[in-house]
Amino acid sequence: MNIAIIYSSITGNTKIIAETIKESLQKENIVYFGNPTEDLPEADIYIIGSWTDKGNPTDEIINVLKKIKSKKIAYFGTAGFGGSEEYFKKLFERVKINIDSSNKILGYFYCQGKMPMQVKTRYEKMLEENPEDSRLKLSIENFDRALSHPNDEDINNVKNWVDTKILNN
Ligand SMILES: Cc1cc2nc3c(=O)[nH]c(=O)nc-3n(C[C@H](O)[C@H](O)[C@H](O)COP(=O)(O)O)c2cc1C
Repeated sequence: MNIAIIYSSITGNTKIIAETIKESLQKENIVYFGNPTEDLPEADIYIIGSWTDKGNPTDEIINVLKKIKSKKIAYFGTAGFGGSEEYFKKLFERVKINIDSSNKILGYFYCQGKMPMQVKTRYEKMLEENPEDSRLKLSIENFDRALSHPNDEDINNVKNWVDTKILNN
């Protein structure tokens, strides 16, 4: 199988997942591994990943997804929020809009990814101004939960995902 792994990562979380996927596919022919490029590399299976930017993949990744026709596609993402399958499902619904119906979708994988410390500082400032804001308190709790991700469990989960959704297809 010729496989291209194309991903977008700013702070490294999605890169960790991408590298784990690559390691899990050692016996396959990885024709491309890296950031989106102008031309789409030729492959049979595209494994496409992105961090979540205001509920969506990056524009570069959306462009890549739109270019792929009549191939197999698997998608992976990291997100600061959630940690719930329901949230990840909603995120993937938005990714799916950009995938042509001629493709076969093998599956998707998400895990949480830590966010930059400035995000917490901003929440804390807002909380000083509105000390009773329970949504802000939840956001800070979520920020702290995300700090350890991707963790060992996420790494194991993505390895299993590769085995079941990609290697068995
Ligand atoms: C500008 C910005 C917007 C973000 N928007 C979202 C979002 O809408 N939903 C979410 O769950 N996480 C959001 N995040 C969190 C990142 O998607 C998350 O930390 C991700 O793991 C970063 O991946 P990377 O390390 O590969 O860049 C946002 C982060 C930034 C910096």
